[in-house]
Amino acid sequence: MTKTLLLTASLLAAATGAFAESNEAVVARGRYLVENVAGCGDCHSPRDPRGQIPAGQHLMGTPLPFAPTVPMPAWAAQAPQIAGLPGYTDAQAVTLFTQGTKPDGSMPRPPMPQFRFTAEDARAVVAYLRSLKK
Ligand code: HEC
Repeated sequence: MTKTLLLTASLLAAATGAFAESNEAVVARGRYLVENVAGCGDCHSPRDPRGQIPAGQHLMGTPLPFAPTVPMPAWAAQAPQIAGLPGYTDAQAVTLFTQGTKPDGSMPRPPMPQFRFTAEDARAVVAYLRSLKK
């Protein structure tokens, strides 16, 4: 009996440890995709005159510091806050990052890219953005 309990306890501990580890790995993958591959901060983080992101402003949204050189029918001059991913459920965000569509079926205006992440990578991006709770 004691043996069974001990075994159950250690199995549970192992499973919990594995979960914590894998969630950490998912967030790390999301950070890599956001920071090193997709460059979300190029548009979603403000910059000071020296090109640095002001403290606490990482992925907090900003007016874009550039504009099209030709007239564009649709253009968003402002990139919203994505730290914490406000206004989106996980499922809605995965759809946006895999299919490029918002919950109402429309697409964000340029220059927001239409991403085609795999579902797994999209979930990692969501996990990382959620980890930046604001
Ligand atoms: C080249 C600039 C640029 C890059 C790079 C970029 N975005 Fe955006 N993003 C925008 C702009 C501009 C908007 C606002 C679009 C609008 O208002 O229609 C936007 C909108 C969004 C929105 C809100 C969509 C909505 O409901 O209107 C989310 C979420 C988002 N971006 C996430 C990301 C993520 C995550 C990345 C990186 C994987 C990323 N963006 C990379 C420019 C960019």
